[in-house]
Amino acid sequence: MTGGAGFIGSHLTDALIARGYRVVVLDNLSSGKRDYVNAAADFVQGDVTEPAHLEPIFAQGVDAVLHLAAQASIRLSFADPSHDLRTNTLGTINILQACLAYRVPRLLFASSMTIYGNSNPVPTAESAPPDPASYYAITKYAAERYVHLTAARRDLDFQLNVTSFRMFNVYGERQSLTNAYQGVLAIFIGNVLRGEPITIHSDGEQSRDFVHISDVVRAWMDALEEPATYGQVINLGTGTPTTVNALCDAVLSAFGKDRSSYPVRYGPAQPGDMRASAADISRAKALLNWQPRVSFAEGIQHTIAWARAQLAAPRR
Ligand SMILES: NC(=O)c1ccc[n+]([C@@H]2O[C@H](COP(=O)([O-])OP(=O)(O)OC[C@H]3O[C@@H](n4cnc5c(N)ncnc54)[C@H](O)[C@@H]3O)[C@@H](O)[C@H]2O)c1
Repeated sequence: MTGGAGFIGSHLTDALIARGYRVVVLDNLSSGKRDYVNAAADFVQGDVTEPAHLEPIFAQGVDAVLHLAAQASIRLSFADPSHDLRTNTLGTINILQACLAYRVPRLLFASSMTIYGNSNPVPTAESAPPDPASYYAITKYAAERYVHLTAARRDLDFQLNVTSFRMFNVYGERQSLTNAYQGVLAIFIGNVLRGEPITIHSDGEQSRDFVHISDVVRAWMDALEEPATYGQVINLGTGTPTTVNALCDAVLSAFGKDRSSYPVRYGPAQPGDMRASAADISRAKALLNWQPRVSFAEGIQHTIAWARAQLAAPRR
C-alpha cells in the first residue's frame, strides 16, 4: 500500500488488516499521519519517487499493490508542477517498474474524476473523452494510462491485472481539517470548528459528487480479488451533484448555524476548478454490484462528529 498514512489509504489499510491481509505501508508522511497507520501494518517511511525505497519492500514478495501515494491538491499542482509530475506520474512509473521486476500480479490505482474536465456531460461515464483541466488531472491521467498500457504489454511473461478507480470527492473521517489545499468539505468543517469565515471560490454554483469513504473502501476491497475488474477503469461517486453553495449550507446547518449567523465570503475562482461533476456509476454497479450506501446527510453528520472529537483531542 502506498499512501497508507493518508486519508483514503489509512482506511484501506484498516480494511485489509480486518480481512486478514498482511500490509506494508509506504508513505513519506508529506500529508499523511503516522498515527493513522494501523498498528498491525508494517510501516516504511519512504518515497515513491525513489526506486531504492521500493526495492526492499518488493523484494519481500508482494501479491498486490494498492497505489494511492500522490500529491493530491489541484492548487499545489499549479504552485509546483514539477513536484506534482514527479510524485504522481514518475512515482507511478516507479511502482510499475517494481511490479514488473518482481512479477506482481495485481495493482489497484487511485485515479481521479478530475480527468473529465469541463467538456463532458454530467453525470460522466468512463467512456467520456478525458479533458484534464488542471496539472494534477494531467499527471493522474498520465499515470492511469501508464498503468493500463503496462498491463496490456504483450512482451510481459506474466499477467499484471490492474484496476483504476476514478474517485469523485471522497469525504469522511481522517480527511485533513487543517490542509487548506484539498478536500472542500473538510476545509469548511475545519473553518467552522475554528470559528473562521468560510470562503467559497467562484460563485459557489460549481458542483461536486461527494462519496463517503466507507463506500469507497468497500469498492476497492470487493475489487481486489474480483477478475471482472481486471483491466477496468471504474468511477466511484454517487451520481448526485451537490453545489458548493449547498455544501456550505449543509455544513452550517449541521452545526446549527446558517448564513445569517455565520460569515461566508466569496473569492476568485481557482485555476483548474471544474464547473460540474458527478459520476455515472453504471460500471461499478455492473462489475461489483456496488452502489453507495451512506447518504450525504448521514455522512456529513458522522464526519462532523469525528471532527468535533479531533478538536477535543488535537493530536489526531
Ligand atoms: N480524496 C479524494 O477525494 C480523491 C479523489 C480522487 C483521487 N484521489 C487520489 O486518492 C489518493 C489518496 O488521496 P487522499 O485524499 O487520501 O490524500 P492524502 O494526501 O491524505 O493521501 C496521500 C498520501 O500519500 C502520501 N505521499 C505523498 N507523496 C508521497 C510520495 N512521494 N511517496 C510516498 N508517499 C507519498 C502522503 O503522505 C499521504 O499519506 C491520491 O492518489 C489521490 O490523488 C483522492
